[in-house]
Amino acid sequence: MKAAWYEKHGLASEVIQVGELDTPEAGEGEVRVRLSASGVNPSDSKGRLGSRPVKWPFIVPHSDGAGVIDQAGPGVDASRVGERVWVFNGQWERPLGTAAEYIALPADTAITLPDSVSFAEGACLGIPAMTAHRALLGDGPVAGMTVLVTGAAGAVGNYGVQLAKWAGAATVIGTVSSEEKAEAARRAGADHIVNYRTENAAERIMELTDGKGVDRIVEVDLGENMLVTSSVIKNNGTVAAYASMRTPQPVFPHYDLMRNNVNVRLVFVYTMPDEAKRSACGDVVRACEEGRLSHPVGPKFSLDDVAGAHEITESGNYIGNVVVEIE
Ligand SMILES: NC(=O)c1ccc[n+]([C@@H]2O[C@H](COP(=O)([O-])OP(=O)(O)OC[C@H]3O[C@@H](n4cnc5c(N)ncnc54)[C@H](OP(=O)(O)O)[C@@H]3O)[C@@H](O)[C@H]2O)c1
Repeated sequence: MKAAWYEKHGLASEVIQVGELDTPEAGEGEVRVRLSASGVNPSDSKGRLGSRPVKWPFIVPHSDGAGVIDQAGPGVDASRVGERVWVFNGQWERPLGTAAEYIALPADTAITLPDSVSFAEGACLGIPAMTAHRALLGDGPVAGMTVLVTGAAGAVGNYGVQLAKWAGAATVIGTVSSEEKAEAARRAGADHIVNYRTENAAERIMELTDGKGVDRIVEVDLGENMLVTSSVIKNNGTVAAYASMRTPQPVFPHYDLMRNNVNVRLVFVYTMPDEAKRSACGDVVRACEEGRLSHPVGPKFSLDDVAGAHEITESGNYIGNVVVEIE
C-alpha cells in the first residue's frame, strides 16, 4: 500500500517519506479500513517532533481518518465489510496510523459514518470532536447552562460550540483572536463572541452574562486564561482543559477557585475512559444524523505531501482541520 512514514524525530520535510509498505491484515478483533481521508492534528506533528518516542522501526502518523471497512478479522461480525466508518486512536501506542491507504485497528475504534458526512469530514471527527465532547460533557449535561468555549474557531473549539448548542446550552460564548475566527465561531453557533486579544475578556464575559458568569469552560489554554477563568466561573462550575501550550505549568489561584467550589478537569482524548469514548462516539454520530454538526474541513493535501500537511499544522496559520485526501 502507499503510505507516509518517518523513522526518527525531525522536521516534516526532512523525516517524512512516502512510498510502499506491506498492507496490514485485520487481526483478532480488528477491522481493516480502506482509507479515503486522514485527519491531521497538532498532536501528530508534536509526536513527530519528539513529544512521543519512536518505539518502532517507523511510524505511519495520524490517528484520525475515514473510509470503508474491507476486511473483518476473527471475532468481528463479517457484515461490517462495506461499512463507511470514521476511526480514532489510529496511531496511538501503535506504529501504523491513517496516513496510508489501509489501516487495521480494533473494531470498536471504527465508528459508523452517517451517509450525509463525507470522508474528508469524517476524518475531522476523531480527536477534535471527541475531545470537545469530553471537555463539554465530562461533568454532566449542560442543558440550560452558560458555556464558554475558548479558541472557538479551533478544530476542537468549533465542535465545542456546536456540541454545546446540540446539548441544549442556553448561551454559548466563544473567544477568538480575529474577525475571520469570529465568523467561524458564529457559523458554529456561538451566541456571543469575545476577542480575547482586543477586549478585556473577563469584563466582557461578565457583562454578557449579567454578572452571573459561566457554568462550564471548554479550555484551550488553561494557564494563559487562568485569570479570566477565575473571574468568570460560577460557583460549582467546571473548567475542562485540553491544552496549556503557552503556559505548560499554570499558576493555580487555589483560593479564588476554592471559594467557588470550582472543578478543574483535564482531558487527554487518547486515554479517556472507555465509557467516555463510547458516549462521545454515540453523541457525535447522533448529532451528525440529526444534521446538527458541520465539519470544519480546512486545508487539503495529498498523500504525497503529508510533510506539507504537517508544516501548515505547525504554522497555526489556518482555520479548520487539515485533511490528507487518499485516492
Ligand atoms: N488533550 C487532548 O486530548 C487534546 C485534544 C485535541 C487537541 N489538543 C491540543 O489542543 C490544542 C488545540 O488543538 P486544535 O486542534 O483545536 O488546534 P487549532 O485548530 O489550531 O485551534 C486552536 C485555537 O485556539 C486559539 N487559541 C490559542 N491560544 C488561545 C488562548 N490563550 N485563548 C483563546 N484561544 C486561543 C487559536 O487561535 P489564536 O492563536 O489566533 O487565538 C486557535 O483558533 C493543541 O495544542 C492540541 O495539541 C489536545
